[in-house]
Amino acid sequence: MYYPEELIEEVRQKNDIVDVISGYVRIKQKGSNYVGLCPFHNEKTGSFMVSRSKQIYKCFGCGAGGNVFTFVMEYENFTFPEALKQLAERAGVKLPEAEYDENTRRQVSRRAKMLALNKDAATYFFYQLRAPQGETGLKYFKDRQLSEETMKKFGLGFANVKSNDLTLYLKSKGYSDGEIRDAGLATYHEKYGMSDKFWNRVMFPIQDMNHRVIGFGGRVIGEGEPKYLNSPETEVFDKSRNLYGLNFARTSRKNYMILCEGYMDVIAMHQAGFTEAVASLGTAFTSGQASLLRRYAENVILAYDSDGAGVKAALRAIGILRDAGLTGKILHLEPYKDPDEFMKNLGKEAFEERIRDAEDSFSFELRMLAEGYDLKSPESKMKFRSALIEKLYRVSDQFEDAKPFIEMACEKYHFGYEEMCKSVTAFAGRQELNAGLIRRREPESAPKQEKKDEPLLKNQKILLTWLADEPSVYGKIKKYIAPGDFSEGIYRKAAVKLFDALEAGAPPSPSAIMAALQADSETGEDEQKEISALFCTKISDHLRQVMGIRDVDIEDKAAEFDTRGEKEKALHDIIVSIKSASLKRAMENGSGDKGSGGKVAFDRILEAKKALQELQKTHISLN
Ligand code: UTP
Ligand code: MN
Repeated sequence: MYYPEELIEEVRQKNDIVDVISGYVRIKQKGSNYVGLCPFHNEKTGSFMVSRSKQIYKCFGCGAGGNVFTFVMEYENFTFPEALKQLAERAGVKLPEAEYDENTRRQVSRRAKMLALNKDAATYFFYQLRAPQGETGLKYFKDRQLSEETMKKFGLGFANVKSNDLTLYLKSKGYSDGEIRDAGLATYHEKYGMSDKFWNRVMFPIQDMNHRVIGFGGRVIGEGEPKYLNSPETEVFDKSRNLYGLNFARTSRKNYMILCEGYMDVIAMHQAGFTEAVASLGTAFTSGQASLLRRYAENVILAYDSDGAGVKAALRAIGILRDAGLTGKILHLEPYKDPDEFMKNLGKEAFEERIRDAEDSFSFELRMLAEGYDLKSPESKMKFRSALIEKLYRVSDQFEDAKPFIEMACEKYHFGYEEMCKSVTAFAGRQELNAGLIRRREPESAPKQEKKDEPLLKNQKILLTWLADEPSVYGKIKKYIAPGDFSEGIYRKAAVKLFDALEAGAPPSPSAIMAALQADSETGEDEQKEISALFCTKISDHLRQVMGIRDVDIEDKAAEFDTRGEKEKALHDIIVSIKSASLKRAMENGSGDKGSGGKVAFDRILEAKKALQELQKTHISLN
């Protein structure tokens, strides 16, 4: 959905950042700013600062920062459109309904109706659990040691022994047979008419990230088959893109998530305070779920059942996590079967210990692989080595990245490191040969590239922050640098907007520039995260590192630099760095250009080169 920039600007302006943040964090006025404890990392003294005049926040402890949209996105773990929606509602700004064609409109209203239907069904189950006919259900949950509070939090319910009372209830609320069937809550038989899908089961409503009920899981009371019955996939229920418990886990603020196998595991863990627990929905863990998790954490701890099926599922999940760029660890629950049982027997502290001791996923994979071989027999050990080579080859697309894994495996199973490296390389060669020498394995992401660019991007961020903080600097530097010298994407776009404002003599508003970029439809998910840092780079930190400046008091930014000379030198270095990178880019592009335009491009590059040499000798005065 595309929203016009003016509208986003209106929402931003009507949500004063101090007011919004005060709703989440206790902040106190200190001078012209507000200060409090940072909600994004643990701290005892407040290094979290909110500026009303600039409409931005910064944490001098962990580096978090941004505008009002960033704050809501970070705190609530929302995407930009979700944050926009919430803030628009808060300020009473009406966002336009998307202009749908007839088909889409029908689909949207059907989805809305199905969500309403699911909600009504959940409410019905919820009340049945508390009614006399729900006694067995309530007893079941109580026997499993769930508190009243937990049952409420997860909206647990009960489906009666009767076989069509939910259908009757939903029909009394105005839903048609067809709608009830489409929602997967009833089936139709020619002979018997409508009958409920769930009966005589305790019910687990499945919620999406925004707490909307999208489906159900129902468990038999006691023994019986199937143990769990789940809603089928519907228009609102995509099992591969939702996770049980994520609606609570997403705000748990841990750097890891715990992935379990079942509903009861998640509930038991949340009850014990581990609100970072989630589970897949009666199906295997999918890559869609992995990318969902990646929005909230970098590490995933697998707390699967300790039986054979659990191990198999864990091995599968590790691969999916790795492909998604997440680090996986394995939680060991022995001698218990699953987190629920473990928690009941050994309790919270013991569980915390197991989290700390979780096994690195690669070491787990190695152990499991080795289990299939008798390592005392030379022949079997050789077979193990071959399997290991393939495993090591698959662990990463880059040989460099595979090295620590090779090292670990060799150390553990006493293979020679050098020979193993050779074997893996040879295996990779054969693979590529088999693939016809054409299709090399494509790296899935390019973190390498990012790393290489990091100092440059950092310099660009510093310059943007600097110009926004001290507009007077613009006059001194504009003859040396233009927005085109910034890296493509959000950096250049931010520079264009900032330079425009500065050129017009208007006070630059980093917060508004960020909002425009956040709303830009070309902005990718990864870039969304970067935007907040564009104008919030800790200049002091960086310079302290580069120039050995002593510790600075954040209250007194003016004291950041000992002398103006140091500041001028820093500014000079930053501009030279950005400019030379820009020139390098131009040369790389220009050298491939052999046409008639080539000469012009070449001249331009030569000119730029001269200008750079000039700049390198120039002293930028901040007088
Ligand atoms: P488990 O059998 O481990 O269930 O299956 P559990 O959650 O630990 O349940 P309790 O403790 O015995 O009550 C793990 C998950 O697999 C799915 C469910 O999502 C369950 O939570 N499952 C299991 C089914 O969908 N159908 C089944 O018949 C069994
Ligand atoms: Mn289980």
